[in-house]
Amino acid sequence: MAKLIYVESSPRKERSHSIRVARAFLDEYSNKNPLDTIEVIDLWSKALPPFNEDRLNAKYSIMHGQAPTPAEEEAWKEIESLFDEFNQADKYVFSVPMWNFGFPYTLKHYIDLITQPGLAWSHSPEEGFKGLVQGKVLAIYAAGGSYEAGSETEAFDLQKPSFESWLGFIGLTEVERLVVEPTLAPPEDLQSLENKLIDAAKQLAQSF
Ligand SMILES: Cc1cc2nc3c(=O)[nH]c(=O)nc-3n(C[C@H](O)[C@H](O)[C@H](O)COP(=O)(O)O)c2cc1C
Repeated sequence: MAKLIYVESSPRKERSHSIRVARAFLDEYSNKNPLDTIEVIDLWSKALPPFNEDRLNAKYSIMHGQAPTPAEEEAWKEIESLFDEFNQADKYVFSVPMWNFGFPYTLKHYIDLITQPGLAWSHSPEEGFKGLVQGKVLAIYAAGGSYEAGSETEAFDLQKPSFESWLGFIGLTEVERLVVEPTLAPPEDLQSLENKLIDAAKQLAQSF
């Protein structure tokens, strides 16, 4: 029995293209794997604490091997519990819209909170940086424009490269990708694009 965590980062819900493809994948996945658990982390309904002075200081105390103050210790407990919730899965699905060429600030906020030394990553002179999270990933991206490899807009795409650099940094290197773009295409083209991606998502769910 495996556990899959789905992290949703579009606030557009019923209108979101990345979420529609993710739901098609998850429906098919749960039909295929009825005993697996699926947990949803909706970043727009989750109360994420600010990554403020106490939490940052806690991070630096840990990195520098110093004893945290009581306030830092308290702040760190909250961070640990957010990370522990994330770090329980064998498989991860993320739906990721493009916002201003990157991804939404809620996802960045979540990443800033959970990407912590001793939890998500470690560093030693012998091993350098090491990601401590394990599992396979499906990343479902949506963008209004098109950023295909080799196109003149490719260099503007900071969404997929930065998200996947983060995944790799924390140890998640086995990544499947589905890309819904351009979502600003005329409605009939968009419908056929989305249908294709939903089919691809269902196909992927068979063996994920
Ligand atoms: C705040 C905001 C910024 C956006 N910036 C970009 C952008 O830089 N490039 C782009 O191609 N589309 C951009 N879009 C369009 C979205 O990428 C597009 O609507 C996509 O379908 C969003 O994913 P979703 O449908 O899953 O919410 C932006 C949309 C919003 C709301």
